[in-house]
Amino acid sequence: MEVIVRPNAEEATRLAARVIAREIQTKPKLVLGLATGRTMERLYGMLVDMHRREGLDFSLITTFNLDEYIGLPPEHPQSYRHYMNHHLFRHVNIDMRNTNLPDGVAPDIDAECARYETAIRECGGIGLQVLGIGRDGHIGFNEPLSAMLSRTRAKALTPTTIRQNAPLFDKPDEMPKRAITMGVGTILDSKRCLMLVTGTEKAAVIAKAVEGPVTSMISASALQLHPNCRVIVDEDAAANLENRDYYDWIFLHEPEWQEFH
Ligand code: F6R
Repeated sequence: MEVIVRPNAEEATRLAARVIAREIQTKPKLVLGLATGRTMERLYGMLVDMHRREGLDFSLITTFNLDEYIGLPPEHPQSYRHYMNHHLFRHVNIDMRNTNLPDGVAPDIDAECARYETAIRECGGIGLQVLGIGRDGHIGFNEPLSAMLSRTRAKALTPTTIRQNAPLFDKPDEMPKRAITMGVGTILDSKRCLMLVTGTEKAAVIAKAVEGPVTSMISASALQLHPNCRVIVDEDAAANLENRDYYDWIFLHEPEWQEFH
């Protein structure tokens, strides 16, 4: 795992956008795993800008989102399908047929989860998985005690997650309490992972995820087992990290980061 600290949220997000853009440029048929949430909104805004100004080409990529609320149809304004169309897909030259999210209103949720796993596998697996972190340490909607080897499945959301996301709903009480999410094992199968974390409210949890023990109580800590995981944080989120000097040294000196200075 590599942790890179940038001075503020804007610069952390810009670095993440440039890493993703580089991956798309070098692998035009990239299978890209995507997340939703507040942190990702600016990231997608930057990718849209890169498409408009620099011609970043999404035409051959395939995407798989991490999760979707159970019970929300795609056209619901708080569904993750709606979020993705609104923040990214409809502003770039992606082929909508190559964009994938779990179907939250599928009649058989277990069959839908199995279908999603198969679809990922048939595309050759995820090349780069983009991730955020929830206040309870979740990645996707892998809430505490999610098995490290879990696959795509239905998951009950924790009170912390419900408190985190309910304000985004016009009627907070109508936020679904369950979601379909890729499993921790599904995420760990990705060839590369890129996590973006900003803001003081994430400082405690990201320190546990990155520097604490690997534990299913903090699903994001499973990323310590991943052979190619980068974590980009801003100063606010980095406040509780202990090994800061080493992380700064890596960004300054490791050849792979030189092009991003
Ligand atoms: C949603 C997802 C979640 C979010 C996390 C952080 O697709 O993957 O794990 O990344 O809940 O959300 P924000 O950015 O709103 O704090």
